Amino acid sequence: MKDLISLHDLSSDEVKGLLELGLKLKKELKSGIEHHILKGKTLGMIFTKSSTRTRVSFEVGMTQLGGYPLFLSSNDIQLGRGETIHDTAKVLERYLDGIMIRTYAHSDVIELAEEANIPVINALTDLLHPCQVLADLMTTYEHKGKLEGLKLAYIGDGNNMAHSLMYGCAKVGMDCAIAAPKGYECNSEVVENAKADFKASGRTLILTEDPVEAIKNADVVYTDTWVSMGQESEKAERQKIFMPYQVNKELFKNADNDAVFMHCLPAYRGFEVTKDVIDGPHSVIFDEAENRLHAQKAVMATLMG
Ligand code: CP
Ligand code: NVA
Repeated sequence: MKDLISLHDLSSDEVKGLLELGLKLKKELKSGIEHHILKGKTLGMIFTKSSTRTRVSFEVGMTQLGGYPLFLSSNDIQLGRGETIHDTAKVLERYLDGIMIRTYAHSDVIELAEEANIPVINALTDLLHPCQVLADLMTTYEHKGKLEGLKLAYIGDGNNMAHSLMYGCAKVGMDCAIAAPKGYECNSEVVENAKADFKASGRTLILTEDPVEAIKNADVVYTDTWVSMGQESEKAERQKIFMPYQVNKELFKNADNDAVFMHCLPAYRGFEVTKDVIDGPHSVIFDEAENRLHAQKAVMATLMG
């Protein structure tokens, strides 16, 4: 494992190994045990999109591991003015021990990983968000005591979160159901890859337009914003189309009685989810946010340690 670009690239054991290490690092942090595994190492963090959780959790995680996080906004580096990914990769690998990148085109992250002789971590593209899903699987494990055999239902836009959740569920032996409206389904190439992963794990993938069908007996109910970064001009249209996909109390009743509610955040109450669900007793959103820190420490320790 040189990079973390997509959970599809990882074996089932590699994904489970990262989750186990994340849980261990979390437990040890809470009992005051320090790990300076990345002492003297520097992580460059390239952002061409906004972030709260990703930026803070990577910076804090790197610091806790004894390394140094270097925030690189695309507004400030030459990449934002047209310097090539190739040249950026070749320069940064001379200074850094790893690169974390959040950007639009997934192909840019693949190119960066191919060109740079240091680990590259995908911190969200238009296509995938693997770090978030590692945190979500960790959170599911903490609340359910297992992953194998559980069902996750994702209701909403067939976006980067939906894609990475499909990949993640398949790798850990969970069933996954995605309900998205016509025209906003998941990327067909990702679906084909995911189908192969589900076949290998013997679990089920359901793709439907019907949120009630998807959420039936789900152990985890997940949604995300209807308007991802870069889609701001489509906001009004999307809000109209997606309204039947809102996760509200009525829809949530169809899930398992002990289902947890998850959202990668940032959330927009009254749109993709109602207040009574996201702020209600089933919600574990802040555990997910916390686990970004622990899961990413596991990723950095594995790739850069
Ligand atoms: N969930 C997530 O990636 O949050 P940020 O956009 O705040 O980093
Ligand atoms: N789908 C959202 C996720 C944000 C963490 C986006 O890409 O904006």
